[in-house]
Amino acid sequence: MEFAQLLESRRSIRNYKSGMRISEDQIKVMIDAAIQAPTWKNSQTGRYYVAMSEDKINFIRNQCLPEFNANSCANAVALIITTYETKRSGFERDGSATNELGDKWGVYDLGLQNENLVLKARETGYDSLIMGIRDADKIKAEFDIPESQEVVAVIAIGVRENDVEKPRRKTPDEITRFF
Ligand SMILES: Cc1cc2nc3c(=O)[nH]c(=O)nc-3n(C[C@H](O)[C@H](O)[C@H](O)COP(=O)(O)O)c2cc1C
Repeated sequence: MEFAQLLESRRSIRNYKSGMRISEDQIKVMIDAAIQAPTWKNSQTGRYYVAMSEDKINFIRNQCLPEFNANSCANAVALIITTYETKRSGFERDGSATNELGDKWGVYDLGLQNENLVLKARETGYDSLIMGIRDADKIKAEFDIPESQEVVAVIAIGVRENDVEKPRRKTPDEITRFF
């Protein structure tokens, strides 16, 4: 798919077709796209925990998401928990933060990776919903996520039931100043 079309057609999807499937290999293709993103000193601190069984998907939907997000990801074929290793991206070897943003650089890197992931999902025939409203503590406990990692977004993967309208975007003039 051409890049401009890919950008235009990726949407946050909150209504997925039932009866769809996905393989681990197809998920790995998306994660490999994530890995290609630039990261702080190539630190690549993003980590992925992929719920594909009905049990695990239902656990996340029923225990770790508010009702509106749980409803949005009904029929998702996978829920990808995205985390990052803290205190690496944006940090020096001696453990000190390189600048005032500290661990926010880890979140920045993960965001770059996750954008690649959702675009690759779209290119390969799947849709997505990034969810920031989730219970990180419950997710951490259920999936044995180490203390050194911070849970960020849960990304639903599925196949859209129908097309949705693009929410309004700002224009370059609204958000840019040239000097
Ligand atoms: C960091 C982040 C967190 C988000 N969290 C949620 C969420 O919890 N629930 C939800 O329905 N949408 C969530 N969204 C989706 C946004 O609402 C959506 O990206 C935005 O409205 C633009 O629509 P589009 O993705 O179709 O372009 C989130 C998106 C991002 C990037």
